[in-house]
Order: sequence, then structure tokens, then C-alpha cells
Amino acid sequence: MAQSIQLTAPNQTTYLQPTGLFINNEFVPSVYGDTLSTVNPFDESLIASVSSAGPEDIDLAVASARNAFKSEEWQSLTGYDRGVLLTRLADLCDRDKHILATIDAWDNGKPYEQALGEDVAEVISVFRYYGGWADKIQGRTIPTSDAKLAYTRHEPIGVCGQIIPWNYPSMMAAWKLGPALACGNTVVIKAAEQTPLSILYLASLIKEAGFPAGVVNVVNGPGTTAGAAMASHQDIDKIAFTGSTNTGKAIMIAAASNLKAITLETGGKSPLLVFDDANLDQAVKWSHVGIMTNMGQICTSTSRIYVQESIYETFVEKFKQYTIENSIVGSQFDPQVNHGPQVSAAQKSRILGYLETAKREGAQLVLGDEQPSPDAKGYFVKPIIFKDTNRDMTVVREEVFGPFVVIQSFKDQKDAIDKANDTEYGLGAAVFTENITRAHNVAAAIQAGMVWINSSQDSHFAIPFGGYKQSGIGRELGEYALSAYTQVKAVHVNLGTWL
Ligand code: NAI
Ligand code: MG
Repeated sequence: MAQSIQLTAPNQTTYLQPTGLFINNEFVPSVYGDTLSTVNPFDESLIASVSSAGPEDIDLAVASARNAFKSEEWQSLTGYDRGVLLTRLADLCDRDKHILATIDAWDNGKPYEQALGEDVAEVISVFRYYGGWADKIQGRTIPTSDAKLAYTRHEPIGVCGQIIPWNYPSMMAAWKLGPALACGNTVVIKAAEQTPLSILYLASLIKEAGFPAGVVNVVNGPGTTAGAAMASHQDIDKIAFTGSTNTGKAIMIAAASNLKAITLETGGKSPLLVFDDANLDQAVKWSHVGIMTNMGQICTSTSRIYVQESIYETFVEKFKQYTIENSIVGSQFDPQVNHGPQVSAAQKSRILGYLETAKREGAQLVLGDEQPSPDAKGYFVKPIIFKDTNRDMTVVREEVFGPFVVIQSFKDQKDAIDKANDTEYGLGAAVFTENITRAHNVAAAIQAGMVWINSSQDSHFAIPFGGYKQSGIGRELGEYALSAYTQVKAVHVNLGTWL
């Protein structure tokens, strides 16, 4: 099997798509001999087949990362040198941003303009941002007594296994690779089965940027084989995962075998609260952004909306109208479209299953009865809005991960906070109010890793991202991510008074 093929995407972009595993800076076939195929979610047409890793391939990738970690070539690079490499990688992603955006739009189904303006723009920023941190990772000196000099070194952890999902393929890769490389680790990273393509293209840019062989190894493959082999591997020192809470738990159990360091970014059921003193038009606009962006396939999507009683019906009506006018469903390559297909048949049927469950459990359907016929090509799901929901309903408790939102009312601030926190998750939350005191008090009372006041989903690479409760462990992005990719060594120096 050739290790790359020339592809022409529906937007007429032609590029060279690597198809191998990327081990030791070379694209190689899988020893395991397996491949996986990926389709365009718009019409279910085959895009390409790529090598799929088995346990032996994971062993080779880990050995490559271990050798690179121990190598003189990587160890002798200063933080400044690593920063230069990351900055060069950012420049190459910028040069090829149209290709990266084309691949993510084609493979995932997300609108091309969003892939370019949000996903790939963030990829570039994240690499540049962590390029800036690479020479600013500093320990401390700790005063104790005249007899001792004590200082800490923030050292890399070693070989990091990184397992990422399909909703933001290249962006999730950047969130994981940026801090890991800035801190001097080496990496084996696995993309999701549904979106294996952009990470292979990114691998070619990593090589072009000049990273030494083996510093980054890229494998594709099923979670239950390739992913599980990484999570239980005895020579991986740390595992970082983004995906479902159940898979996060399985990874945690497997990672216990050699006590790997872990960071997990898992599911969510994030609340959005609208108080009666809010700017209603802004609340409506952001509520739409908060759940319909990326067809609802966002871990932090604000999928539970709570509205104060006096404005409840007005909000529901305005939100319905806004959604009808502003969710333009169609091909991800049509510039008018902002709502493409879901990523896969499995996700589509899962969401439509929740539509039936919600009706059966007595929620009132506001929008979403007219879905494409089951035999229509493509994984389209039109926006779904339910009102008059309650805490016992499945769709209020479980993550749907689609353009699917449940609305209910609340009485007062205490009721709003109680309802917002009535979940096993704690990833994001949004609060709409013009009362500055209330805004900060509610933000403090909500059990979530991120709270947006008068917006939703406006995350930023310099600001930590992660979850409370079953939404995860640890933080990504910002300076906080550096502590997830370093370990602290304390050095005690006897200053001679004990000789
Ligand atoms: P998943 O959590 O199973 O998959 C995410 C990644 O984990 C993929 O790379 C997959 O290959 C890998 N994986 C799966 N099983 C594994 C295992 N046993 N060991 C190691 N790695 C493993 O999510 P999936 O099945 O794609 O989607 C199901 C649901 O998960 C979605 O409906 C959504 O609710 C949630 N999800 C949440 C995401 C988030 O950003 N928090 C992203 C993707 C899915
Ligand atoms: Mg695909």
C-alpha cells in the first residue's frame, strides 16, 4: 500500500494525503496489516482508507517515542529551541490552513468556514502560544534555612499517550501536542476512527518543521484495540484523553496498571441560565451559538437552558424563531451553510433515538419534528428544541452530543443554581444577567470548570479548560496545561553547615 495518495476534495482542493502510520518521522504501513476507511458525512462517499494500528504497531510507536525521549538530539534542545520548532509548526499550519480546513470539513462534516476560521485558526494559535511558553517553564527556589538551598526543576514526564475525539480533529491534536512538546515530552497520539485524516497531514508538517524523529508518532486505529493498547502500555508515562465519560473511566482503569499520570476531558451537560434582567436578544443569540455550533458536537455545549418564569414563554418563542432563521442546513462546503451533517451514522441515530425518548417521557417538542427521511443520504439532524422538561427525563440527564437542547423554567436565583448543579457533570455553564453582583455570585456557585457570563463557548487558548465532577481530571490550555505535562523534582543542597 502506498503511504500517500493524491485527493481532490469537493471544494476542488487537491493535496497529498498521507495514509500510513507516522512512526519515527516516516509514514509506514501497519504491521498488524489493518486499515480503516473514512467517509464524507454529507453523502457517505468513501474518502480514503488509512493504516490502522494493532498492539504491535503501538509497541513500535512507543519504542520510537522512548528512543527519541532519551536521545541526545531531543534532550540537548533548549526550551528556546523547542519554542522555535513549535513556532515553525504554527507557520506551516498557517501556510497550509486551507488544506487542513478542507480535510476537517470533508472528514468530519463541519462547515468549511468554521473549520478554517475557528478550528485551524486555533491550531495555529495554540502552537504559537506554547512555542512562547517553551523557554519560560521555570522551577522555584524555596527558602528554608541557611543550611539548605532548595529548588525545583519542572521536568518532562516522558512518553505521553494522547487519545483524541472526532469533533475537532486537528484542534484537539494541537491542544494535546502544544503543551506536551513545549515541556519536552515525546508523544504517541491517536485520532478518532471517524476522522483519521487531518492528523496525518499534520504529521507531515511536524516533520517539515524539523522535529527530531520519534518525538511525535501518529497512529490511527479503533479505540478498543489501538486506544486500549496505549492506555495499558507499560512504557507510556502519561495518558491524556478527550471523549466520553465511560471511555475515560475505562482508560483510567487501564492506566492504573503502571500508575500513569492522567488528564481526562470528558462529557458534559452544561447549563445556560437566563435571568429576567438579561439582555434577551443576546441571550437568545448565545443560546443558539451554545448548542447549535458544530451541530452540537461540543463537550461544553450549553445543552440545558433554564429561563426565569416571567420570561420563559417569550424566550422559547424567540429562540425557536432565531433557530429557524439562523441554522442553515446543508453541505459543509456551501458558504451559506452553518449546519452540516453529524459525524457518523451512529451519532445521527443516537440523537434521533433521544428525540423519541424525550417525546415518550413527556417533553414538549418546540422544533425538530421534520427530520430527513431515514433513507436519505448523509448524517443530517436538524435542530431539536424541547421545552417543559424536568430533572427526571433522560434527555435532561444524559449527554446527547447533537443539535438538541432542553429548556425549563426556574423561580429565583437559588432555584437556578440548584437546577444548574443537578447533574453528574461539571464542564461549562453560562449565565445571562445585567446584574453584575448576581453574575459573579452565580458564577461562583456553579460547579463547573468554565463559566461564561453573557456568552457561551467563547473559550480561548490562554484560558484553562477542563471539568468538575465526571467531566474530567486536570486542565488543558493556558499556563495550567504545563503542570499536566511536567513533573516536579525537588533538589536539596546542603550548604555546608552540616559537614
Ligand atoms: P469515545 O469516547 O469512545 O471516543 C473518543 C476517543 O477514544 C476515540 O479516539 C476512540 O478511538 C477512543 N477510545 C474508545 N474506546 C477506547 C478505549 N477503550 N481505550 C482507549 N481509547 C478508546 O466516544 P465516541 O464513541 O466517539 O462517542 C460517543 C459519545 O461520547 C458521544 O455521543 C459524546 O457524548 C461523547 N464524546 C464526547 C467528546 C468530548 O469532546 N468530550 C468527544 C467525542 C465524543
Ligand atoms: Mg469521516
